[in-house]
Amino acid sequence: MTTWFTSARFGLFVHFGLYSLAARHEWVKQRERLTDDEYQRYFDNFRADRFDPAQWARDAKAAGMRYAVLTTKHHDGFCLWDSALTKYKSTNTPAGRDLVAEFVAAFRAEGLRVGLYHSLLDWHHPDFTIDGWHPQWTDNVDNTGRDMDRYVEYLHGQVRELLTAHQPDVLWLDFSYADDHRVTVGKGSADWKAEELVAMVRSLSPHTLLNDRLDLPGSEDFATAEEASPHHGRGVPWEACRTLNGSWGYAPEFQQWLDAGQIVRVLVDSVSKDGNLLLNVGPDGRGAFEPRARELLAAIGEWTALHTDAIHGASGAPDLTPPPDCRLTRAGDRLFVHVFSWPAGSLVFPGVSANYASFLHDGAEVQLSTVDEDGNLPHLQAAGPPGALVLHLPTQRPNVLVPVIELALN
Ligand code: GLC
Repeated sequence: MTTWFTSARFGLFVHFGLYSLAARHEWVKQRERLTDDEYQRYFDNFRADRFDPAQWARDAKAAGMRYAVLTTKHHDGFCLWDSALTKYKSTNTPAGRDLVAEFVAAFRAEGLRVGLYHSLLDWHHPDFTIDGWHPQWTDNVDNTGRDMDRYVEYLHGQVRELLTAHQPDVLWLDFSYADDHRVTVGKGSADWKAEELVAMVRSLSPHTLLNDRLDLPGSEDFATAEEASPHHGRGVPWEACRTLNGSWGYAPEFQQWLDAGQIVRVLVDSVSKDGNLLLNVGPDGRGAFEPRARELLAAIGEWTALHTDAIHGASGAPDLTPPPDCRLTRAGDRLFVHVFSWPAGSLVFPGVSANYASFLHDGAEVQLSTVDEDGNLPHLQAAGPPGALVLHLPTQRPNVLVPVIELALN
């Protein structure tokens, strides 16, 4: 069931909503404790006139991405589709468009899988009880008149709408915080009626892969990690999600940009641990990808185009220990050595037996030898355990973001 997911390896995350106009992080309503009235100005001015998912889909595909996940509703409660259950939606703004439907159609037209992110939290719905993460939280909060049962009916009803309309490949629910030490009152699986929600997802759209943020262990098809690529158990599908610059929503003041080499290394590192990378772009207030994001996607795409065999359909090589500063990925009897920092001389690689080696980007042979029984090579270019494979590298690092040497294993 997860086959497409674990071979896709690289996806696009898109955070777009009213906060994209505020342009200072998707949590701006909470961070600045804005009221609904104060936040209304983004709704009134939401035009999305440069929202062009066909362009995004082309950019994503060229970057080597195989799927994409869009925010249908973030914590601020604003819905990007024509939900029958609320007036707080894109079709009632000046944009007047069902952005989710357009997104799904555009990405599917490019042959990419489609995922929908949906927030469990809702800082706009009148029945969502004010908790420790809510913009209107105070120590003596009054939740009289708020009825979580009614909110949960709304939540489940909207998920039902989305599943029915789009049968997404991924449903990315976000998030639970029952045990969050940063808040005195949180919410978790009981608040979401998570078991019922999962049962509905499974019956309405059995092929949809569900993430792990419902606080209901065992209900997930894959685990998520945020801004990190930790080791998970072998055989557990997982996905790291990352921002390009430190904010999920468009925020020009967040300038913690990764460069293209860092992003490729994160991707490789994730795949070497059997994981995926979901890389986020926050479109601007008009719905366009900013130039810097597009340039990064293009640069990454130059690398993935040449290195697809080492990423798509590849996994880790847990039985082997990589040479220093390298990562390993594997597809059948092809082993890929991703060289993160370029050594002067050779790479010694014990524990592996190969009959041929070449650079993946241009097919140029990499000469091989083995360490002799005294632990030396002729000319002492390298030393290591007897029998260890030695890869003789050119002095100059090939001009690609991460050089990859393919070994044909015996
Ligand atoms: C967190 C944040 C959210 C972001 C998400 C992405 O849960 O609340 O703003 O959408 O992470 O993983």
